[in-house]
Amino acid sequence: MIEQIEQAIIETGEILLHAENITDFTHTKDGAANFVTEYDTQVQKILFSKLSAILPEASFMGEEESAHTYTDKGYLFIIDPIDGTTNFIKQNHTSCISAGLLKDGKPYLGIVYNPYRNELFSAVAGKGAYLNHKPIHVSKEPLENGLLLFGSSPYYEELWQPAFEMAYQYFKRCLDLRRSGSAAIDLCDIACGRAELFFELRLSPWDYAAGALIVKEAGGNICGTDHAPVQFQKPQGIIACGSGISKEDLL
Ligand code: IPD
Ligand code: CA
Ligand code: CA
Ligand code: CA
Repeated sequence: MIEQIEQAIIETGEILLHAENITDFTHTKDGAANFVTEYDTQVQKILFSKLSAILPEASFMGEEESAHTYTDKGYLFIIDPIDGTTNFIKQNHTSCISAGLLKDGKPYLGIVYNPYRNELFSAVAGKGAYLNHKPIHVSKEPLENGLLLFGSSPYYEELWQPAFEMAYQYFKRCLDLRRSGSAAIDLCDIACGRAELFFELRLSPWDYAAGALIVKEAGGNICGTDHAPVQFQKPQGIIACGSGISKEDLL
């Protein structure tokens, strides 16, 4: 089943690679600089249909078209059809498909696929995390040798100032910071040791449903910005880090 799910996601990634005239198919949503393209909705539709053929008993939750219903009964796919839509519109090739699968409310499978780099991150609960099927591990470096990945919570104006203040506080204690524009890719970069710390003050479950398991299975830590366990019912702030960073290091 897992191979079939991976294959379905890789095939669907072709849509991102061959997208044309994206700005002609772009609309706005609530919030600042919040865009959706017709590719986002198309990819979600195709994924729902391919994945329900593989796992007919599964329910679905996704970013687009108000497909937002959570359940902790049985299998639930939580899908971000394109994470990094602004990057997609700008064609800067830092966007991915993110698919998390929960079983009775607990992460069971996570897949994040960046077709531009041909990078498939995956994890199964209790079975480790992988990049293109090779095992990955988080960095062991302490914060002072670390890179910070910073999510600016772009759609929520009231969070801009606190986000940049928190980023500044961490920035003073680490090497430097980066802003990719895809939270799911950020979490995978933590999982494979390309950076040590990630935070964003508000994300939705589809941004982190897959990445949360990938970080954990790679030996990292992930929690809410209030340091409580990650949950998938509603939006929350997220912090993820490698194993060289302890709870005491977190703001
Ligand atoms: C967004 C990206 C971005 C993050 C936003 C997310 P979208 O997702 O992950 O990096 O800063 O908070 O909403 O809208 O491109 O799927
Ligand atoms: Ca979006
Ligand atoms: Ca997203
Ligand atoms: Ca999205």
